[in-house]
Amino acid sequence: MSKPSVLVARAVFPEVVARLREHFEVEDNPTDTIYSKPQLIERLQGKAGAFTTGSERIDAEVLAACPQLRAVCNMAVGFNNVDLPACTARGVMATNTPDVLTETTADFGFALMMATARRITESERFLRRGEWTRWAYDMFIGPDVHGATLGILGMGRIGQAIARRGALGFGMKVIYHNRSRLPAGQEAPLGARWVDKATLLREADHLVLVLPYSAESHHAIGAAELAQMKPGATLTNVARGGIVDDAALAQALRDGRIAAAGLDVFEGEPSVHPALLELPNVVLTPHIASASLATRRAMAELAADNLIAALGCGPRAGRPPSLLNPELLAAR
Ligand code: GLV
Repeated sequence: MSKPSVLVARAVFPEVVARLREHFEVEDNPTDTIYSKPQLIERLQGKAGAFTTGSERIDAEVLAACPQLRAVCNMAVGFNNVDLPACTARGVMATNTPDVLTETTADFGFALMMATARRITESERFLRRGEWTRWAYDMFIGPDVHGATLGILGMGRIGQAIARRGALGFGMKVIYHNRSRLPAGQEAPLGARWVDKATLLREADHLVLVLPYSAESHHAIGAAELAQMKPGATLTNVARGGIVDDAALAQALRDGRIAAAGLDVFEGEPSVHPALLELPNVVLTPHIASASLATRRAMAELAADNLIAALGCGPRAGRPPSLLNPELLAAR
């Protein structure tokens, strides 16, 4: 029997591609070209599976044009690039890579929040420009992290891991807003308190965004929300571009409405709103929150496990470990 064909849409660890070749005819992308939609559709012709990343948009049009596709396995925990209902309607299994990146992403989110609060990159730029000529009592003065109020919008796995760092490592008071409240047994060890969104905005000294992107969370932080935050507060986004209205944020930073922002994700990335690039009080990183070597390997391996299982191979044949549309299993 011939092996199913799959597309690995971006460059990925060669050993992961080699493992996929044990099960599939693999078209990979070692030059790491980002395919336009027509190119993606063309490459997906005759393919049963796709190993994707956030740069490939798998929407209803792509699915309709690729009727042989049976599995889309995204190497990311976020899957806003995949139209899940459209996949389900066509019987296409969709998977993501949760859990394996939780702690690494939380490390980065916390680091970005600290760098933002303590003005690490801003002061480094000053030093590199040769402007450091003397000590001054108020040089790069900023808010404390320890003992401050950590506000978390979106209290899933990564939000909880950030809360743990803040509460247990830095003595922070943790407040959060999420659609569903955590069970008391999960709140208690963190001293975490569920609050409504307005309270979160009003009380947080450091607000960290860790919620998934969807039509509902589009511009969850815009001018009106920024106006409710404390003037000395910081905002950190390690979730997705589009959750923050970047133009409104740039304006709020310019006006001193909030003290500073740390951003790993942007609307329309890899483009960055030009006003953000001009501002001193914003720490900018290129969507790298999960980028430790061990975690990126684990993500790639999990996406491969998902693809292998979704296409009926390996020890979990038919039952991918992180299936997003398990209703497809019930339908079999
Ligand atoms: C990264 O942004 C991810 O969703 O894994």
